[in-house]
Amino acid sequence: MLRITVLVSGGGTNLQHIMDRIDDGTVKNALITNVISNNAGAYALERARIHGEIETDVISPKSFPDRASFNKAFLEKLNDIDPDLIVLAGFLVVIPPEVIKRFRNKIINIHPSLIPSFCGKGYYGLKVHEAALARGVKVTGATVHFVDEGTDTGPIILQKAVGVEEGDTPEILQRRVMEEAEWIILPKAIDLIANGRVSVGNDRIVHKI
Ligand code: GRF
Repeated sequence: MLRITVLVSGGGTNLQHIMDRIDDGTVKNALITNVISNNAGAYALERARIHGEIETDVISPKSFPDRASFNKAFLEKLNDIDPDLIVLAGFLVVIPPEVIKRFRNKIINIHPSLIPSFCGKGYYGLKVHEAALARGVKVTGATVHFVDEGTDTGPIILQKAVGVEEGDTPEILQRRVMEEAEWIILPKAIDLIANGRVSVGNDRIVHKI
């Protein structure tokens, strides 16, 4: 059984879909044991509590004197849990390098565009969709990738395209990308990993077994 820790900062709709797909058996051999947020008010934490049988924690850089002490405490927390997989589901804190090193190819992130478009530093939340609309792309989407030391540069596991429609606002496009892509490919990537169907080659290309 793959023991998963989900890291969240906001509403937690991606977390909800992962919990639902595990509960309805679409995602097999996986279990969310922990949900951690940097934001005590995140509704994602409430979703985990409503679900039950998931430990919730809050750990924020704001409650530490400096980044180094936060990074240390964050690594210690994750070491205590010792998850098989860490899922970033709308987590707005930069993952410390020591955490990436310790959990190499065991951290995945969902990004709301087709990487390498509209990704990297500064591209998060609505800004991604604003940039896609400003560029006039007709197709956007979402990407699930492993997390490495860069911003959105890790090996790509799954992508799904979503059409841009006339009259879209960033908010409308964000919602469509979630509904048609994020909520589908994030649970699917977890299922692939939980069932030994993903391997990362030396060329950092993800192969499906
Ligand atoms: C999603 O758009 C995700 O791609 C981005 O943050 C949002 C999280 O939404 N990184 P939610 O908290 O899962 O509802």
